[in-house]
Amino acid sequence: MFSSRVPRELAPNRLSAAVAARRAATRPYLDLTTTNPTMAGFVYPPDMLQALADDRGRTYQPGPFGLRTARRAVAADYARRGISVAEDRVVLTASTSEAYTLLFKLLCEPSGDEVAVPAPSYPLFDHLTRLDGVRARPYLLQYHGRWELDAHGLDAAWSERTRAVLVVSPNNPTGSRLTAFQSSPCTRTTGPSVSHSRQRARARWPRPGSSSPTRASTRGSRSSRRR
Ligand SMILES: Cc1ncc(COP(=O)(O)O)c(C=O)c1O
Repeated sequence: MFSSRVPRELAPNRLSAAVAARRAATRPYLDLTTTNPTMAGFVYPPDMLQALADDRGRTYQPGPFGLRTARRAVAADYARRGISVAEDRVVLTASTSEAYTLLFKLLCEPSGDEVAVPAPSYPLFDHLTRLDGVRARPYLLQYHGRWELDAHGLDAAWSERTRAVLVVSPNNPTGSRLTAFQSSPCTRTTGPSVSHSRQRARARWPRPGSSSPTRASTRGSRSSRRR
């Protein structure tokens, strides 16, 4: 008997069943859900795997946040893209799913705490949160020619138990990216509020040292202006 963290329903859904039928019929099809970069027809540099033969690989150097040299390389790559991140702020995990589960454990109590999850987005969020005893509460993205984060949608999904907001950029499956303006509501967790509609801004965000979110208004403030 499995725990309640595991889905009760294990039968394939309609989409999986349709894909399986198509594959079984060996008819050509274009799978737009493919996210495995090794199956997407990319041409990799022929010497890419040579680094795996580096002699330094013989020494096991456990580091919970990842190899220092690798974290430094990631920070340098961000810097090349114009984003300043200290290498101490970079944590490497074996997969994105592992990063989610570490963050859920770090931030959420397994007794009803919630994370806000974009919709539409990655369908496995429901399962990943449930596996950690956390509730996924959807916040709706808006479509205006492209999918955008909407502060009112985020506000509507906020509850007393919200501990984190998941933001995916580029998003799966919409491919939409956050602009600096759109991401501002998600990065300001310490200030009084955030969010926007040209002249008006209102949202709820936890303050440092506070266990519950705080509602505040930033009407006409600088943080509410479109950048
Ligand atoms: C938003 C999102 N998170 C996580 C994953 C899974 O990533 P990983 O294989 O690194 O766990 C995917 C895969 O498509 C994804 O789209």
